[in-house]
Amino acid sequence: MPDSLPPLRAAAVVGTTLREHVLHGMHAAKGATGEFTSLLNHISLAIRIINSRVRAAGLADLLGYTGETNVQGESVQKLDTFSNEVLMNVLERSGHCGVIASEELDEAQLADHHGKYVVLFDPLDGSSNIDTNVGIGTIFAVLRRNEPKLSRPSLADALRPGREIVAAGYVLYGPSTIFVMSTGQGCHGFTLDPSIGEFFLSQPDIQVPTRGNCYSVNEGNFSRWAPEIQNWARWVKAVRPVGPTPDGSTPFNTPYGARYVGSLVADAHRTLVKGGIFAYPADSKSKNGKLRLLYEANPMAFLFEQAGGAAINGTERILDMMPTELHQRVPLILGSKDDVAVYRQFVTGERT
Ligand code: AMP
Ligand code: AHG
Ligand code: MN
Ligand code: MN
Repeated sequence: MPDSLPPLRAAAVVGTTLREHVLHGMHAAKGATGEFTSLLNHISLAIRIINSRVRAAGLADLLGYTGETNVQGESVQKLDTFSNEVLMNVLERSGHCGVIASEELDEAQLADHHGKYVVLFDPLDGSSNIDTNVGIGTIFAVLRRNEPKLSRPSLADALRPGREIVAAGYVLYGPSTIFVMSTGQGCHGFTLDPSIGEFFLSQPDIQVPTRGNCYSVNEGNFSRWAPEIQNWARWVKAVRPVGPTPDGSTPFNTPYGARYVGSLVADAHRTLVKGGIFAYPADSKSKNGKLRLLYEANPMAFLFEQAGGAAINGTERILDMMPTELHQRVPLILGSKDDVAVYRQFVTGERT
């Protein structure tokens, strides 16, 4: 034992925590009462609880199926149920949510109080990947109710276009736990330090490259796609002359690489940080595609636009779509502005 211990080292330089980032946002929001900040902190708590169980799922017998099917007709995994219950419990206790809607619940939950906010979420995205230890996630969107004190919470509070979102985010439970979120002032990534249960700002102001070189789509559906989508899929992986150069040579493009995880959060996160395009088109089996507008497409579209990217249903902006049903599905094309624009040209026939 040394005769004298070295002096206590100054605390390591500490990065910006999610809590500090959110608090800064509150000070910048004129007249904020703190309810929104409290809601975001509750969402952060729920995410950290889910994360701790995702990490131990294999040991905590949370893998596997519950034997039930949800409103989507999909078999429900234990982690879906657990994640849903955590989010429902924490959000109800916050007292800020007049309406809560989940992929796992047939109906929207309407509070008996005048909670100011609506929270829509996919508690566990990528369920089919749980048993193969592939990245899964949680996705949410927050809307503010109009005249919350004067009206009782209703389904109409939830069926609003995504352009009215006031906050959205996703968590990717991957090699590390990344929380990407926006309150309308840019898109920011936070990484969880599991040893202290704090999220630290790791990717401030994420910007999607204007063009990428990766496409992400389930090509197993190729035979069921409309011809114009098939044309796009052939184009994106073709080698093409890219026009003569001054010396008269005709170089060729490098075809796009393919990446497809099958968890929206994982495919979207890669596309957000590296650029390129993710597509889940409609097909002859899923007439409106597979992904849900309110708690998958809209939050992702909000985040991508905050990061300078784009999100369409094939022709129109996802955030402009007027929802008619809680669990309605929508074709979703997300990614770099230029890549999404080219996809749209195939859909409209400008390219063939
Ligand atoms: P509040 O009075 O706390 O419900 O906040 C009113 C509105 O101000 C919210 O709906 C947000 O649009 C904005 N706001 C409040 N707090 C924050 C925050 N921490 N970060 C970003 N925006 C905020
Ligand atoms: P969820 O697990 O919440 O039902 O979402 C699964 C979705 C989404 O994560 C992913 O992009 C898509 O299913 C993959 O569908 P395919 O397996 O048909 O490609
Ligand atoms: Mn999902
Ligand atoms: Mn899900």
